Amino acid sequence: MKINKAIFPVAGLGTRFLPATKAQPKEMLPVVDKPLIQYAVEEAYAAGIRQMIFVNGRNKRAIPDHFDTAYELEAELEAAGKKELLALVHSIKPDDMECIYIRQPKALGLGHAVLCAQCVVVNEPFAVLLADDLMVGKPPILKQMVERFADWQASIIAVQEVPDDQTRRYGMVAGTPVNDRMMDMTHIVEKPAPKDAPSRLGVAGRYILTPGIFKEIAAQPRGVGGEIQLTDGIAALMRREKVFAFRYEGRRYDCGSKEGFLEANVELALMHPQLGPGFRSYLKTLEL
Ligand code: G1P
Repeated sequence: MKINKAIFPVAGLGTRFLPATKAQPKEMLPVVDKPLIQYAVEEAYAAGIRQMIFVNGRNKRAIPDHFDTAYELEAELEAAGKKELLALVHSIKPDDMECIYIRQPKALGLGHAVLCAQCVVVNEPFAVLLADDLMVGKPPILKQMVERFADWQASIIAVQEVPDDQTRRYGMVAGTPVNDRMMDMTHIVEKPAPKDAPSRLGVAGRYILTPGIFKEIAAQPRGVGGEIQLTDGIAALMRREKVFAFRYEGRRYDCGSKEGFLEANVELALMHPQLGPGFRSYLKTLEL
């Protein structure tokens, strides 16, 4: 089975980023020159995925608009002969990419958001990408995971080491190593205290899941924070199927936090082919 569908849960309120997110979705905050959601969609596309499923909430019109045709803008760029900018605008949604929008009527949590997409995914394995985790890797992180999926044909969860005092921010996992990067997962707990965490490996916002997860999520009571947690669904799935944790190769920026967002902007600006060299010189002039 091949992964052709990705779910982007984008209905969250972005309260950690107020006031910037009062009137715009957090997924539309730009890192250097692109909104966060575009980085995530590009990562899915690079992994061979062509159906992008956005689980949207109220006040998130900017996201469908971003991936839609902008007739006025395109006509003006065309008339002005600005071919490069026109190509840039077109590249946001390649012709072979399909965008599907589903409304999450209530903010009942990440597990519930994924469940809202069941009617589109039905019976295929699929990816979930959390856009506020900006992931940079070569190959891109989700591509690394899709390649593993081709061999293992089982759910794969991206994990990384997290500091002791941050276990309450993550789904925390443990497992038995099967090779240098993959672990046969034995435990997953949502946001435990450090003493209750099964290891120091925390879940990053990239998942490949088999469709068996839907039934498990649907059976979950509300978990941490009163929300229906994807983590609890995965814990239940683990009792029926193999689930692997994957230590990806690359860097994650937690763009749901102001610090992580600033780090992403600085580091991606330094990596930017046009802006990088000038920005590096500018940073050197700062007396830090
Ligand atoms: C979600 C998941 C958590 C995961 C995290 C990664 O939490 O529930 O298991 O570790 O994403 O960013 P959130 O950050 O939405 O609270």
